[in-house]
Amino acid sequence: MHIDEKLSTALNNQVTAELEAAMIYLQLSYILEDLSLTGMSNWMKKQHAEELEHAQAFAQHLLDRGYTPQIGDINPPKLDVTTALEAFEAALGHEQKVTAMIREIALISESVKDFESRPFLDGFLVEQIEEESSVEEIINRMKFAGDGLGLLYIDKELAKR
Ligand SMILES: [Fe+2]
Ligand SMILES: [Fe+2]
Repeated sequence: MHIDEKLSTALNNQVTAELEAAMIYLQLSYILEDLSLTGMSNWMKKQHAEELEHAQAFAQHLLDRGYTPQIGDINPPKLDVTTALEAFEAALGHEQKVTAMIREIALISESVKDFESRPFLDGFLVEQIEEESSVEEIINRMKFAGDGLGLLYIDKELAKR
């Protein structure tokens, strides 16, 4: 089914953005492993895999609509992160950026009356609520727990993901 060029461009950019998000989580997993926080590193690796799935979902929607996705330049920002708290704050900041991007795509789909992309985009709007809220919860629990044993307790919890 034909897709408006403005919408296909935005969806295509989102493929690249989700791949970039995947790389950010991978980098955060390296930093946390280096801090010996293996549970948190594991959580970030799972998130990395999830972001790859998101990229694939956006690509598949384009393919189903007869558009060939083109992966753009992936430029994960250099992360100034040296603590576990900073790692999760960086993750939250990035999720908020992604939420804004998906809201923008929803706005475009509305402006070009592309009703067909709505169920797909709605799923991602809901997904972003979950993404932000789960990272916010971890940040809050880390602040309660403080450093030392409290941090190790949360690290153990996140190993289970
Ligand atoms: Fe995502
Ligand atoms: Fe995400």
